[in-house]
Amino acid sequence: MKSFSDHIKNIQCHGYTKLTGVYTNELINKVKKEFHQNHELFVNIQKKKNIYNEVKDTTHHTFILCRTMLRLLESNILLEFLDQYFENQKFILNTMGLSMLKPNSKIYTQAIHRDVRSFTGADKLWVNTLIMLDDSTKENGATWILEGSHLRSTKPSEEEFWNSAIQIEGEIGDVLIFHGNTWHCAGENKSKSTRHIITPFFSRPFIKQQLDYPRALGLDFANTLSDDLRQLLGYNSMTPATLDEFYQTTENRFYKKDQG
Ligand SMILES: [Fe+2]
Repeated sequence: MKSFSDHIKNIQCHGYTKLTGVYTNELINKVKKEFHQNHELFVNIQKKKNIYNEVKDTTHHTFILCRTMLRLLESNILLEFLDQYFENQKFILNTMGLSMLKPNSKIYTQAIHRDVRSFTGADKLWVNTLIMLDDSTKENGATWILEGSHLRSTKPSEEEFWNSAIQIEGEIGDVLIFHGNTWHCAGENKSKSTRHIITPFFSRPFIKQQLDYPRALGLDFANTLSDDLRQLLGYNSMTPATLDEFYQTTENRFYKKDQG
């Protein structure tokens, strides 16, 4: 088994690494079940906003309505790894959604892209993770990655990408971890079943979350959380909205001073 420092070296040199067996099938199945029970809620919101697309059919910030998903962020080997990756500096959840890759579908994540559009070189400001809720195979659309591409500011040509990209397969419960600037894309699902993934992105706390999780979940909700999850969801790095909220004693500050 590789050590955490080997995995960190992989990310620094190649732009990605993979942790195996992070989650049990039992937890993954609970998460998937709850998601399918609530999926319609996301469809309804997207339809109401005239942006629903049955082919793309993806969900964002999914744990807001599917709270079992938060258990994926409770103490586990991935979070231990992230502590080391961020050199014991604080980090938060920047975004986290569940995507489905349906058989033979064409979706936007199949185009070559990187998830963080601003090029930050090898700085450890962000790291993206992809939790496999099904086995990820060449047949059902496992992610393609261009090794080392996190170190370049420009997009590789289609030719260069497809000449050198590699497809990262894995099993249920494995987690692919990649630098936010790595050029990648989803594969094609030629199987008969939908492939589900959850993609939590983690960042240093001074980078804005893509949804204001403390306010979306509610400030009182923090009382139900462990210290670690409170940190991860951004309750220690909130932006005050009034001078009254801003002027605080150190322990009551919205953006705590250990957040970087
Ligand atoms: Fe992506």
